[in-house]
Amino acid sequence: MDNIAQPPARTVEEWAKHYIESRDWKVKLSPPSAPKLWASCPQALDLRPGRPSDLRLTTTKPRTFKAGSLKSIEARAALQHKFWHHELQAAELMCWALLRFCHTPLAFRKGLLRIFKDEVRHMALYQGEIEALGFTLSDFEVRDWFWERVPTCETEVEFVALLGMGLEAANLEHTLRFADWFRNVGDQRGAAIQEQVGLEEISHVRFAVRWFRTWTGDVQFKEWCEQLPPPLTPLLMRGKSLDMNRRRNAEFPEEFLEELKQWRAEPTSNRVRKTKPSGPCTRTQNDLQNENNS
Ligand SMILES: [Fe+2]
Ligand SMILES: [Fe+2]
Repeated sequence: MDNIAQPPARTVEEWAKHYIESRDWKVKLSPPSAPKLWASCPQALDLRPGRPSDLRLTTTKPRTFKAGSLKSIEARAALQHKFWHHELQAAELMCWALLRFCHTPLAFRKGLLRIFKDEVRHMALYQGEIEALGFTLSDFEVRDWFWERVPTCETEVEFVALLGMGLEAANLEHTLRFADWFRNVGDQRGAAIQEQVGLEEISHVRFAVRWFRTWTGDVQFKEWCEQLPPPLTPLLMRGKSLDMNRRRNAEFPEEFLEELKQWRAEPTSNRVRKTKPSGPCTRTQNDLQNENNS
């Protein structure tokens, strides 16, 4: 499929599948607009993301970064590349969700398409910065961590709980921290991208919170925890301290935020549970290296 011309997609669903599976840089970075026509639900799909042949995949633990290491231009480019790859996976997973949850209201699936466009735009911001630093998208390895986790969601509620209210919400805090890191080494451009992306992610989180409320009747912490696919816990779904302004702007209720702030992993066991526990949010979590928790 690498660089092989495809006939234009007739439906959104064909277009989404093509975006996910394409191995063509041009499609990944600058996809054609989605068609206007929506089809009925496709057959069960086991989708995996296509990767251009010169984008190297790894399954090993991701490289970690420290604030001080960003004095190196190579480290800054590598970190920007990690963020670029998060955006790529987010764009692909919006496509995955509109196929996997094709029975959901059209308004939800149209919302996924809107977010998709933002994620592609964010990719372009990071790509521009990587290239300005003298590197290319093929210079660093990627680990498709979001793809390892998000497709374990079996319902649309689990999907918005994990991606929007979890991983994207944590990025509201991570982007502030990374903006400081870039600023502290004099990289104002790098800092500005973090600030822009962080602000623009608020609407993605709000989208998830609103649909969670629609589908569960409320936005309760306990319910949210129960919707996180094992072995994930709130541990990866927040920064070191919550940014209350951004979170409120995303329409998380105060009570929810208090409980999220207070939540602690069970300290007594190193075992990672494979099934949902009897009580919410009681899982331990020791195997999950969140790429953002550098
Ligand atoms: Fe994004
Ligand atoms: Fe996003």
